[in-house]
Amino acid sequence: MKKPVVLVIVLLAVALIAAATVMLLNESEEESAVEETAATETVQQTETAETTAFTAAEVAERSSADDCWTIIDGNVYDLTTYIDRHPGGAEILEACGVDGSRLFNNRETDDGEVIGSGRPHSNRALSALAELQIGTLE
Ligand code: HEM
Repeated sequence: MKKPVVLVIVLLAVALIAAATVMLLNESEEESAVEETAATETVQQTETAETTAFTAAEVAERSSADDCWTIIDGNVYDLTTYIDRHPGGAEILEACGVDGSRLFNNRETDDGEVIGSGRPHSNRALSALAELQIGTLE
């Protein structure tokens, strides 16, 4: 092969490698930007939930299956979107609009009536609950 042809091939190969490297770098920058945005949103959500205070009266207004808030251990949770996913079925509705601490922690009513197994909810339930926090009790 003639020297100029080899030179052109080498130059083309170098240009291709450079273009591929630039594309890869751009992609990973975009990915980390997306990750950063998601992390910021989670932090903001947590901060809002920790700093927004609601009164018991405001919670009491949300006592239906279509709009269900509850108080558990001094925090306020919006259970509405979780009701249909609750593995324990409609029992969760007992907590709408009221302090559901005893219901959630002990699976029993304030009168001591046992609901289901009467055992505390699992860690899986605790982390599902944490996702639903919207504030604290004033
Ligand atoms: C506050 C009122 C609630 C009541 C009365 C209630 C009751 C129950 C009952 C009876 C069961 C069936 C298992 C058993 O009997 O041991 C159950 C399971 C479960 N509940 Fe609830 N629940 C309530 C709220 C919640 C909330 C707010 C969450 C999470 C956001 C949750 C998550 C779960 C999960 C994940 C299970 C499957 C078993 C476990 O992991 O503990 N529940 N619940």
